[in-house]
Amino acid sequence: MQDFLEQYQTVLEHEVATWFKVGSVSDFPENSGACIKYKTKQIAVYNYTRMGKWYACQNMCPHKMENVLALGMIGDKDGIPKVACPMHKKNFSLEDGSNLGGEDYKIATYPVKIEEGNVYIGFVD
Ligand code: FES
Repeated sequence: MQDFLEQYQTVLEHEVATWFKVGSVSDFPENSGACIKYKTKQIAVYNYTRMGKWYACQNMCPHKMENVLALGMIGDKDGIPKVACPMHKKNFSLEDGSNLGGEDYKIATYPVKIEEGNVYIGFVD
């Protein structure tokens, strides 16, 4: 299980080797999440229109290793965009993946770009 979790590492925009097309903008619901698969990874994608931004992170919640974050409610805490895990409501920053409750859980985040109506997520592999 640990190996499975280790495949999720935050990717910064300047590190991207592959921009993977995951669909068109209209494929994604507004202000909620959807899940896509890249190789062995499940990635949650959020079209956060209230913030005018897109976010992507690992779908697996590091608390109980459940693939559920795409189903989480998005919102903000003191202006920081976040997702709340639907299982036990742990909150993660969509900007840097940190746990907003100060606990030692962190999620990997991935850059998203929109080009000509299509959505791309950046990976290093
Ligand atoms: S599984 Fe996500 S908060 Fe417990």
